[in-house]
Amino acid sequence: MGNEYDNDMFFSRYAEMARSRDGLSAAGEWHQLRPLFPPLSGKSVLDLGCGYGWHCKFSEEQGAREVLGIDLSEKMLAEAERRNSGRRITYRVCGIDAYEYPQNAWDCVVSNLALHYIPDLDRVFRRVHETLKEDGIFLFNIEHPAFTAGVGQDWVYGADKKPLYWPIDDYFVPGERITRFLGCEVRKYHHTLTQILMGLLNSGFVLEAVVEAEPPEEMTGSAGMADESRRPMMLLVRAAKK
Ligand SMILES: C[S@@+](CC[C@H](N)C(=O)[O-])C[C@H]1O[C@@H](n2cnc3c(N)ncnc32)[C@H](O)[C@@H]1O
Repeated sequence: MGNEYDNDMFFSRYAEMARSRDGLSAAGEWHQLRPLFPPLSGKSVLDLGCGYGWHCKFSEEQGAREVLGIDLSEKMLAEAERRNSGRRITYRVCGIDAYEYPQNAWDCVVSNLALHYIPDLDRVFRRVHETLKEDGIFLFNIEHPAFTAGVGQDWVYGADKKPLYWPIDDYFVPGERITRFLGCEVRKYHHTLTQILMGLLNSGFVLEAVVEAEPPEEMTGSAGMADESRRPMMLLVRAAKK
């Protein structure tokens, strides 16, 4: 199983999601992620798993002087070039594990919904800490451990096909989960809350904010969005290098 984002069927289904069609304003977490961004005027920003490049474009619009978006998927980056290119933005095909993380190079490292594809978070945290300048900010959004724990990563439904409850199983068994997402098998990694938060602290970060994302009211309960938006889905963290 390679990176599903380069699989034609998965890629075209991903393109149909509201967040893919309409960008940040259609992403359920954006109203809580946006306020966590530091001021970016004149700053350098690295985006890990940038996908279509929405956060790269946002960073440029906020005045960042240099933005690098890396992603494993050539298809996603082609889309980033098409939709979110910019004079101060570079996109590069590169894995989060493979990036060189030069020392004291970036003011801000962002990662939205990509770190649950990484088996060894501790290593990434250490590398991000090294690559940040002093007072640099690491801002990320990872699928919530309550979401990644169970293999199904889906509701338990009643006879009427309505979601009954969200099952949590094997919470304390971190590691690989072969899940179904957009009708395809996708390999993700479950990390417990302790692993995520202590991993950051042990890497030398200071935690500045932890937010469990809830979709805005206008996105809940509406047809089509209900299933995705009501999941206990995302954990937003802002950490600083002091
Ligand atoms: C859910 S998308 C999020 C994209 C973007 N950050 C956003 O919020 O719109 C996850 C992205 O992570 C990328 N990805 C997955 N594993 C990766 C890895 N090991 N290294 C780099 N990118 C990866 C995928 O190709 C995909 O573009």
